[in-house]
Amino acid sequence: MEEQSQLLIQQPLPNEYAELTDEELDHRITAAKAKLGKKLVILGHHYQRDEVIKFADFRGDSLKLARWAAQQDEALYIIFCGVHFMAETADILTRPDQAVILPDLSAGCSMADMAPAEQVGECWDEITSLINGEPLPVCYINSSAELKAFVGRHGGAVCTSSNAHSVMKWALERAQTALFFPDEHLGRNTAVRLGIPFEQIAVWRRSLGKLTPDPHSAIKNLDGDRLRLFLWNGYCSVHMRFTPEQIERIRGQFPETQVVVHPECRYEVTRLADACGSTEFIIKTVSESPAGTRWAVGTEINLVSRLAQENPDKIITTLDEIVCPCSTMYRISPQHLLWALDNLLEGRVVNRITVPDESREWALKPLERMLTIV
Ligand code: 13P
Ligand code: SF4
Repeated sequence: MEEQSQLLIQQPLPNEYAELTDEELDHRITAAKAKLGKKLVILGHHYQRDEVIKFADFRGDSLKLARWAAQQDEALYIIFCGVHFMAETADILTRPDQAVILPDLSAGCSMADMAPAEQVGECWDEITSLINGEPLPVCYINSSAELKAFVGRHGGAVCTSSNAHSVMKWALERAQTALFFPDEHLGRNTAVRLGIPFEQIAVWRRSLGKLTPDPHSAIKNLDGDRLRLFLWNGYCSVHMRFTPEQIERIRGQFPETQVVVHPECRYEVTRLADACGSTEFIIKTVSESPAGTRWAVGTEINLVSRLAQENPDKIITTLDEIVCPCSTMYRISPQHLLWALDNLLEGRVVNRITVPDESREWALKPLERMLTIV
């Protein structure tokens, strides 16, 4: 894990962008897109705000966007309206002559930052001495390219919340143990679906720098021969806001409510929900439900609000009354998007995300594996 990723500092935008009205922004972004034509593709994640997502040529969850990035033959510029790890993934999956641009470099992901490469190395050493061998690593796409390269070097695979189940199954069919990181909750929820008992799960506690039994299990001491899964204790601060009490409260008020949540929510929440899946799954489940149904949705607020607007025949609310958007996704503004486009029109590529060659080469393998495991 020797290669360093880019140091990301967003430069302030020229003042003129702050002074533009919403109409001027819309008009100039539309005109710039038209001028750049097929040289440009804009990809947008479901958590982007309305003022930005409306300009996306392709809108999707992490898996869909990775697939679309990999399929772009014509575009020379791919503007990624999402967060840093998504843009890095797109850079790895595209040709070197295609530039991937993140409109605001400060759009990171706090969960991805919870797994620094050196700490993963320490965790790896402790696991290998406990089990007397190597686990097969599975890394959530919400992670740095450097970690994906680590996974590639050890024969593992990347997953998203859409295919975590298939990828973890793939890993556990090939090895006695797997290491899943950085999201503890997606890892545990997936393991439960696969029928792995808590007693066979250990958690790497970052603050303690050691492995401990899964908090849901009754065992006190780890036995390397019985374990099947190691989880890294990272989390998404947006999805950690959802609680079992919120589900009970809404069902108390409106017993007919169906609850659908993202698998980054803790196990106690997913266990009570009627359905659980990626952003794409949530959209499909709610959109295809009969008119008049009532839904409480446990995921990022921009997606929930859009879902409510696009399905006026249903009652759709957020599970969390104190609404919290993903603050880093929110950093992508129409002003930043226009600034990136204006620079392209003047022949300059700003905010290009470039993964160093060695990481790129190794990270490609587990990403390609992810795209083939359905
Ligand atoms: P999906 O796009 O896989 O649903 O993941 C949501 C998320 O938190 C992205 O950061
Ligand atoms: Fe990261 Fe959570 Fe935001 Fe997704 S929603 S980008 S996991 S902080």
